[in-house]
Amino acid sequence: MNQELPIRFCEPEQVAPDTWVVRQLAGEGLGPVATYVNSSVILGAEPVVVDCGPAVTRDEWLETTFSIVDPADVRWVYLSHDDVDHTGNLLQVLDACPDATLVTTAFMMERMSAEFGMALPLHRMRWVNDGDRIDAGDRELVAVTPPTFDSPTTRGLFDTRSRVYWASDAMGSPVPHEITDIAELDPGFWREGFLGQQLLLSPWLNWTSPERYDGVVDRIRSLGAEVVTSAHGPALRGSQIESACRLLRELPYLPPARLPGQMDLDAVVAMLVAAADPAAPAAPAAPAVEEVAA
Ligand SMILES: [Fe+2]
Ligand SMILES: [Fe+2]
Repeated sequence: MNQELPIRFCEPEQVAPDTWVVRQLAGEGLGPVATYVNSSVILGAEPVVVDCGPAVTRDEWLETTFSIVDPADVRWVYLSHDDVDHTGNLLQVLDACPDATLVTTAFMMERMSAEFGMALPLHRMRWVNDGDRIDAGDRELVAVTPPTFDSPTTRGLFDTRSRVYWASDAMGSPVPHEITDIAELDPGFWREGFLGQQLLLSPWLNWTSPERYDGVVDRIRSLGAEVVTSAHGPALRGSQIESACRLLRELPYLPPARLPGQMDLDAVVAMLVAAADPAAPAAPAAPAVEEVAA
C-alpha cells in the first residue's frame, strides 16, 4: 500500500496470449467504490508499453511493468493521452527502453511540454493520429478514438492480432473491490457505474445528437474486439462488449453526472477527522455554497 494514497497493485492480468494489464486499485476503503488505474503491455515481435502509469507509485509500477517485458526489448511506448495517470513514468520508461519509439501526437507533445520541457526526444517520436496504423512486426496496431474521453488528445489502441482494444479512459467502471470479470458484479451496479463513469469523462455527451453518436459506437463495434481493456475498469469480453455498446448508446439522452458538492466534502472531512481521533468533537459545518457566493 502506498503510504500517502490509498492505492495498491493487483496482480497483472493476462487478457490475451501476448497482452497484459498492469493494474492498481485506488480509493479502496474510502467509499463504496474504488477505481482501477491501469496500463498495458503487449508482447510479441516488437513489445509495446501502453501508457506509463502515475508517478505516485513509480517504483512498483516500473518493477511490475518490467517483470512482464524486458525494457531492452521494448520497441514502442504508446501514449493514449497526456493525463498524468498515463504519463507519470514516461521519462523513466524512455530512459529504461533505449530502443523504444514514443508514439504520441503533436498536440500531446505540446501539452506535455508544460511538465517535461524539452526532455521529450523528438527524434524518438512518432506522431500517430486517429485511424493511423503502426506495423509492430507480427501485428498491426491501430489508433482509434474511444467513445468517451477526458482529453482531446485521446486515441485508444486496437491490436489486430489479439483483437484487444485498449480504450484508454473509456468503457471502464468503478468496482466495490478487486475483480477481474464484471460478471462478479450485480448487473444494476455495473450499469450505473459504467454510465456514470462515461458521463464524468465526457460531460458534453448530451450535447451530441444520438444519431451521430450511434456512428461513434458503431465504429467501436465494427473493430470486432474480443477484449476491451480500460485504464479505469475491469476488462470486458465477448458479449460484455455488446452490453457496453448498448449502454454507450444511452449516453446522449442522459444529463451530466452529478458531481460531489460541499456537503459531500464536509462528510469526507468529518469521516477523516473521526478516523484520526475518535474522541474529537464534530467540526462545525462549512457555510453553504450560497452563503459563500453571497
Ligand atoms: Fe484521462
Ligand atoms: Fe486516466
